[in-house]
Amino acid sequence: MTASTQWQLARAAAEKYQTVLTPVILGPFAEALVDFAHLQPGETAVDVGCGTGAAARRAAGLVGETGQVAGVDVNASMIEVAQSLPAVPGATIAWHVANAAQLPQADQSVDAVLCAQVLQFMPEKQPALADMQRVVKPSGRVAFSLWMPIEDNPYFFALVDAVARHVGAETAVGLRAAFAFSNQDDIYAVLQMAGFDQIEIEIRQIELPMPELTQFVPRHIGATPMGVGYNQAATAVQHAVVNDVCEKMARFGANGRMQIPFRSHMILCKKGN
Ligand SMILES: C[S@@+](CC[C@H](N)C(=O)[O-])C[C@H]1O[C@@H](n2cnc3c(N)ncnc32)[C@H](O)[C@@H]1O
Repeated sequence: MTASTQWQLARAAAEKYQTVLTPVILGPFAEALVDFAHLQPGETAVDVGCGTGAAARRAAGLVGETGQVAGVDVNASMIEVAQSLPAVPGATIAWHVANAAQLPQADQSVDAVLCAQVLQFMPEKQPALADMQRVVKPSGRVAFSLWMPIEDNPYFFALVDAVARHVGAETAVGLRAAFAFSNQDDIYAVLQMAGFDQIEIEIRQIELPMPELTQFVPRHIGATPMGVGYNQAATAVQHAVVNDVCEKMARFGANGRMQIPFRSHMILCKKGN
């Protein structure tokens, strides 16, 4: 797998992730995952593959000052951006640059592992899942979000289709990777193989208010691994991509006042025996 499909974004890209993607799409879904995990005051939570920390910050407010929260990401730039953001009320968040397969937490020390839109980027999932099992308490839980197939996410589908047709399929791969682990049967099988118990999979649709797409689409592309190929394309090609997406999304409302449905799996598991 290439570096781009592993979403290894440099610092500038991590900042774009935080300023462009988090407020509009990834943040609301990360927060929905935290709520799905039903965190309680005083609990300990770890946000694995935390990126710039949207889930960790939500968790900090819910577990409060008596709780503990950590954010772990293999990409040091993501952690740098997370650390640069203003502190939120609640638990102090400890940030760590580490691989999900080698979490810095002690055995059986965590009430809730949160893992928002991350597993799809791991070529080898079992080592990371085994380490989540190691750190979670016997009574604990692990919550994952994973996008529904791209065909069930009309904005992403239109974007990838437009980039593939006008710029090239190899450039579109950078976003397609986010949908590499979207089949419910596969998700269930992988989690079962990892030894998780009581695996509950729910489909969550959130209607997200979108900024004006003529401006947002280029910013969104620039905040993903597709940005390199897109920026090298001719201006007419870039316009064609934006126009295609705007046309396909027109059914969701006037530009600037659009509400587009996004769909993700929300998965809650118990530690296995
Ligand atoms: C799409 S981002 C999601 C970030 C964040 N959870 C959110 O919802 O905004 C995927 C994140 O997973 C991280 N990641 C991918 N593989 C990882 C691994 N093996 N260990 C730790 N983090 C990983 C990436 O660095 C990236 O920050």
